[in-house]
Amino acid sequence: MFSLVRGSVCAHLARRHAHSIPSFTHLNAVTHDDLAHFAKILPPNAILSTLPPNLNSADDLVPYNVDWMGKYHGQATTVLRPRTTQQVSDIVKFCASRRIGIVPQCGNTGLVGGSISLQKEIVLSLGAMNSVRSFDPVSGVLAADAGCILESLSDYIARYNHIMPLDLGAKGSCQIGGNISTNAGGLRFLRYGSLHGTVLGLEVVLPDGTVLDQLSTLRKDNTGYDLKQLFIGAEGTLGVITGVSILTPPAPRASNNIFLALPHFKNVLPLFQTVKRQLGEILSAFEYIDRTAYDMGLEHGLGPILNPDEVGDAQCFVLAETSGGNHDHDSEKLNNLLESLMSADEPLIYTGTLSQSPGQFASLWALREGLTECLQKEGKPYKYDLSVPLAEFQNVVDAVRARLISKGLYGDHGITKVMGYGHVGDGNLHLNAIAKYGYRPELEAALEPFIYELVASHKGSVSAEHGIGSMKTSALRYSKNDVSIEWMRKIKHVFDPLNIMNPGKVLPSV
Ligand code: FAD
Ligand code: MLT
Ligand code: ZN
Repeated sequence: MFSLVRGSVCAHLARRHAHSIPSFTHLNAVTHDDLAHFAKILPPNAILSTLPPNLNSADDLVPYNVDWMGKYHGQATTVLRPRTTQQVSDIVKFCASRRIGIVPQCGNTGLVGGSISLQKEIVLSLGAMNSVRSFDPVSGVLAADAGCILESLSDYIARYNHIMPLDLGAKGSCQIGGNISTNAGGLRFLRYGSLHGTVLGLEVVLPDGTVLDQLSTLRKDNTGYDLKQLFIGAEGTLGVITGVSILTPPAPRASNNIFLALPHFKNVLPLFQTVKRQLGEILSAFEYIDRTAYDMGLEHGLGPILNPDEVGDAQCFVLAETSGGNHDHDSEKLNNLLESLMSADEPLIYTGTLSQSPGQFASLWALREGLTECLQKEGKPYKYDLSVPLAEFQNVVDAVRARLISKGLYGDHGITKVMGYGHVGDGNLHLNAIAKYGYRPELEAALEPFIYELVASHKGSVSAEHGIGSMKTSALRYSKNDVSIEWMRKIKHVFDPLNIMNPGKVLPSV
């Protein structure tokens, strides 16, 4: 779907991050002796290290040390690629005894710097643990290693006419263990809900090396605390997920989509209500794209989707999808919807198109899914993944743009574009500000904490689905009160008293 951003360590960025990260005086760097121990657990090709005797080049470690955006540059000297849960357990046990920090990593597509080492922690890459363990076509329960790529799992169960309950633009690279560790939302959330509901069981290597086997395939299990829930969205701070069991729904018999151009943002809410009323249970996605994002998509070849004359000065766009049991019935419903929208006395839309073929269906989705990559091509995006009331989506984007203008930071020399897109159905706005010529401290200072304060004023969340990682540890307090953070710390201490597991992520340093 996309390529990994490669590049050498940017000294400027490394310096900037060095100011904001805690110093891990409690942790040790990997030594020659440690490598010799790892060599007793893993075969030589599963150990990458810039230290002797391996002497890999720093470039060999770039795929593990640089995140997808090219924003976070890690310091790991050593990457370990186990194939079995036992190997993970042995590695973690040894790291605990030696006080070596561990960054669990799956597809390294996270957008908040959670999968990158901050100092000299090892990267524990799960990518070689990539087997399907079992699939039951009757219950739809899939059990798989954490390192299975999301798209490979989709392909695997497609032969049984099932689909994964989550889908995202990064599906070709992200892995199920990473999805669960970030509690990823994505494009099917409206229909199938959160991973907190669809994940049935997990196998986790705890920070002392113990294997916690909760790989249940039961839908109902009311026997006390549901421990697995703690690891969903823990971003690798409580343990390493090695195995997963997840409920997969039957593939819908028919999927259709429509793409609509709206004159004003204020029409989005009444449109959402109308669409929900008319489509009922077959509505499976309702996605929002503002005009700036739409134009950016077209500039990068993701269109044209609609006739430009009919689009006119449309302020925003909506992509709605249906998933149902009967293609003709569903497309008739969509046709009726489109007709009633177009023929209303005061139409909520300027124009719209209904996909007529699988190719068209895919190209409507491609525009929405491709935006994240387009941003990368435009420059360096500051990405904010917010929960705010639907009615505020446009106001929030406008307020950020106005702030940058007032500070003289809007334009070629600073932020060139501010835009919003996201999952309307879930109240999740993706606000993006592009720095054409790279990340700069004064740009970040203009955006933060301004955006987080704005979100807090709406009682929203500073992270709807991407997580906290290292990017938002200081922003956590805008969405969680002191008591909540204190209990998060206590939970972290219970599982990881030595603070070796993804240190410096999620919780702000004290
Ligand atoms: P990684 O990036 O490797 O890791 C993410 C975090 O999980 C890190 O903190 C890491 O330490 C931890 N972790 C990884 N593996 C394990 C493990 N086995 N055990 C414990 N901890 C672990 N997110 C959404 O929610 N919705 C979207 O629609 C969406 N779209 C995206 C589109 C694109 C193009 C991209 C690049 C990203 C998108 N994301 C989206 C971000 C998203 O969080 C991820 O892509 C995905 O869930 C991360 O999976 P990963 O395998 O790459 O994890
Ligand atoms: C999306 O919905 O496209 C993803 O969460 C990624 C992004 O925010 O760009
Ligand atoms: Zn998203």
